[in-house]
Amino acid sequence: MGGAVSAGEDNDDLIDNLKEAYYIRSDLVERAFRAIDRADYYLDEYRDNAYKDLAWRHGNIHLSAPCIYSEVMEALDLHPGLSFLNLGSGTGYLSTMVGLILGPFGVNHGIELHADVIEYAYQKLDSFIKNSDSFDKFEFCEPTFVVGNCLDIPPESRQYDRVYCGAGVQKEHEDYMKNLLKMGGILVMPLEETSSIRHYHLTKITRTGASSWETKKIISVSFAPLVLPKHSTNGKPHTLRVTTDGGDNQSRGRGSSFSVGRGLAVAGLHKRSWLRLDFVSVENVC
Ligand SMILES: C[S@@+](CC[C@H](N)C(=O)[O-])C[C@H]1O[C@@H](n2cnc3c(N)ncnc32)[C@H](O)[C@@H]1O
Repeated sequence: MGGAVSAGEDNDDLIDNLKEAYYIRSDLVERAFRAIDRADYYLDEYRDNAYKDLAWRHGNIHLSAPCIYSEVMEALDLHPGLSFLNLGSGTGYLSTMVGLILGPFGVNHGIELHADVIEYAYQKLDSFIKNSDSFDKFEFCEPTFVVGNCLDIPPESRQYDRVYCGAGVQKEHEDYMKNLLKMGGILVMPLEETSSIRHYHLTKITRTGASSWETKKIISVSFAPLVLPKHSTNGKPHTLRVTTDGGDNQSRGRGSSFSVGRGLAVAGLHKRSWLRLDFVSVENVC
């Protein structure tokens, strides 16, 4: 997917091309895109390809094409103070851009299936904070990433103002995704067409009431599908439990695929524990 605009010489050039082709339309989105060099999310040996409008995959690391991220960022209609959930948060590139818009009173959570990808995302986040010239020009809502299958979030979990899913969503999971939204919230995801398996439309869904949603198709896209949850030995699904954390930094680390120690430190630094709801990955929570 991608190739909608010409390759750039550098990040600014790529953003110029995305603007010219009307993929980036708002100043807020443009500013976030310019602040983060896409090449920094590539492995060094592949950096040269970063300013092409193409998706990139290496092992478990996967970035979508810049034209897709532009459509996603515009469709999310972001502003400071919102809560955001990124399903399949990958390298953290999108979550970091979003964090630049949400500012210090936002909430920025990501769930990613692969622990090595979360590790990579935190390395990239550290490097952005330490080395980027643009970091000081923003009030940042630092993302927190947890390992888990995003289809294992139980229905009683918190809801978000904005939700993005970075992998293809089957029709049967549409309602599950819609219920992650607060009233008035916006969900953007590649949603499978009813008539055609593995054919997706990037779709924007706005929650207009307790049981009403407005749906708008943005563009036809090709995405790898969401990985379905594995069932544990007793046949029950693993569960991502969402708990409130009183900020004592003690309630994490339970569960076989749990890995958010770093996220906790980050949230603690911001002293926003009253805003924070943390994911704890556990098996078969009753
Ligand atoms: C296209 S990549 C998203 C990249 C991300 N937007 C970024 O900024 O790097 C899709 C991601 O979804 C993850 N994924 C796929 N199925 C998942 C699932 N069921 N739960 C959580 N993550 C999943 C993949 O491991 C992959 O990292």
